[in-house]
Amino acid sequence: MITKDIQKAIEALQNNELIALPTETVYGLAANAYNETAIKKIFELKKRPLYNPLIVHLHSSEQLKEVAKEIPQRAKILAEKFWPGSLTLVLKKQEHIPDLVTAGKDTVAVRIPQHLVALALLEQLDFPLVAPSANPFGSISPTSAQHVWDYFQDKLPVILDGGNCANGVESTIVGFRGNEAVLYRHGSVSVEEIEQMIGKIETITHNDTTPDAPGMLSKHYAPKTPAVLTENIAAEVAKNAGKKMGILVFRNVLEGKEIVHCETLSPKGDVKEAAKNLYAALHRLDAMDLDIIIAERLPNHGLGITLNDRLSRAVKR
Ligand code: TXA
Ligand code: MG
Repeated sequence: MITKDIQKAIEALQNNELIALPTETVYGLAANAYNETAIKKIFELKKRPLYNPLIVHLHSSEQLKEVAKEIPQRAKILAEKFWPGSLTLVLKKQEHIPDLVTAGKDTVAVRIPQHLVALALLEQLDFPLVAPSANPFGSISPTSAQHVWDYFQDKLPVILDGGNCANGVESTIVGFRGNEAVLYRHGSVSVEEIEQMIGKIETITHNDTTPDAPGMLSKHYAPKTPAVLTENIAAEVAKNAGKKMGILVFRNVLEGKEIVHCETLSPKGDVKEAAKNLYAALHRLDAMDLDIIIAERLPNHGLGITLNDRLSRAVKR
């Protein structure tokens, strides 16, 4: 059921059921982080492999010591600056965090979301929530309650409607090797913003064999329609003559006889606006029964790096 009724969500979660909740990045599929019965349902519903750990969502920094320990100084600096917000920190876990949450690792991923509905819900619970994106494993992430409904319909007792996600791409994930920070997933906070706070950080975002963060898998966030990513849209359109094409571009509008639809992510060329629109645009194109989606690579700095990361994984077959 799509609803704005937080009370219904609280009851479902207390009964170890799953709900969908809005965050500022994407919608999450949430369960009691301390209850294995509930957490198992996430893996079953998403068809998510068990090696892929979950993010624990908190309502305040004071709650952090309940789930993590030995917090590095650089983590404290980042938490202070970006929480509540779209940054996930991978930290040493407290013993009582279930192995299902962490895929048996000794670390736990945590963040405080910046969405009034998510925070209001978390504040009224006496347990944190694990919440992966509310989509089947590998598919396009949801940025509206409707997207979640389209995937799961009434398999979820409650889909909390908090409007369209303001940021539109997942949180940035930062972990630590000793005191050194490592970027595991590009996301809604740009690398530049992170580096302004703690200096240069190493990036490890591709690993298909033992993914430290499976946003790392090279195929992910994928539409069902075949897709390509290009720097030269016109050449790609010419190459695909005769096919029903959908186009995804940064700021221009492209028209043509065989172009069924063109999605422009930000007419004014603002990458933040483009991020907010990316997944909704991919969902719309994927519903159009096209032969191919041709996506344009964005300028590769700031959030453009994150969007190019998502698009390059989305087009993998
Ligand atoms: O923006 C977000 O982070 C959204 C919203 C709902 O909060 N959630 C999200 O969750 O994107 P999910 O499950 O789609 O992605 C979680 C990522 C995965 O890439 C996972 O591998 C990584 O977090 N992760 C979780 N625990 C980890 C750990 N202990 N070490 C390394 N990576 C971890
Ligand atoms: Mg996901």
